Amino acid sequence: MAEPHVIEYFNGSFTKTSRGAKKGVTAMKVLLINGSPRKNGCTSTALSEVAGEIWAQGIETEVFHIGNRPIRGCQACGRCRALGHCVFSDDPVNACLEQAAQADGLIVGSPVYFAGINGALGALLDRMFYAGNALLAYKPAGAVVSCRRGGAGSAFDRLNKYFTISNMPVVPSQYWNAVHGNSPEEVRQDLEGLQIMRTLGRNMAWLVKSLAAAKDIVPRPEAEVRVRTNFIR
Ligand SMILES: Cc1cc2nc3c(=O)[nH]c(=O)nc-3n(C[C@H](O)[C@H](O)[C@H](O)COP(=O)(O)O)c2cc1C
Repeated sequence: MAEPHVIEYFNGSFTKTSRGAKKGVTAMKVLLINGSPRKNGCTSTALSEVAGEIWAQGIETEVFHIGNRPIRGCQACGRCRALGHCVFSDDPVNACLEQAAQADGLIVGSPVYFAGINGALGALLDRMFYAGNALLAYKPAGAVVSCRRGGAGSAFDRLNKYFTISNMPVVPSQYWNAVHGNSPEEVRQDLEGLQIMRTLGRNMAWLVKSLAAAKDIVPRPEAEVRVRTNFIR
């Protein structure tokens, strides 16, 4: 088994850990974003279980840890429309978008904070999806949340909303994708949660492979010219 290697950006403000595909299999890749400030915490434990299964199915995995430095919120300046990326490059947002755009599938993991996703991840995803959701369209995506006790459903729902507004097929599992625990040790005791993660990983691999196999046979749906009505009538 290939050992993961770690690439540090911005003096360690965020990290990327890659695991190459098994020998002789596809060059496809799934990016897993760890939104927790804790690099090796509960979210990471859940994501590792997903990544392990994706890798076992012959697909490369890459974990992008967003780090624990401040990530500014969207300034609503609209410059991204012309640039194709966020105007601010002093935090992980554009690097994360770049990695996600190159991947064949995306998993986003968040700890549950007050029944929602954590603030830094929300700031990152708002800017990343506002600037670049066209680059992410038609890539299968899955959400993972980690909580001590409650609020997983609303956090899970919020993450899925980034995908469903971006034409990203949502990858299912056998239950809603949450693990429970306050430490990696506790998460490892959540055997059902871990199984849900493995099922998510297998389903992601199956969808990524299916879409790749169908690429030349079934064209992507043609988009209509966008209509925007702002509830003014
Ligand atoms: C600011 C803050 C708010 C939290 N809010 C919740 C919550 O609403 N529900 C819950 O079950 N756990 C809550 N927790 C606990 C974390 O969600 C939980 O420990 C999670 O598994 C941590 O994941 P991590 O180790 O990847 O950061 C909160 C933790 C913090 C720091």
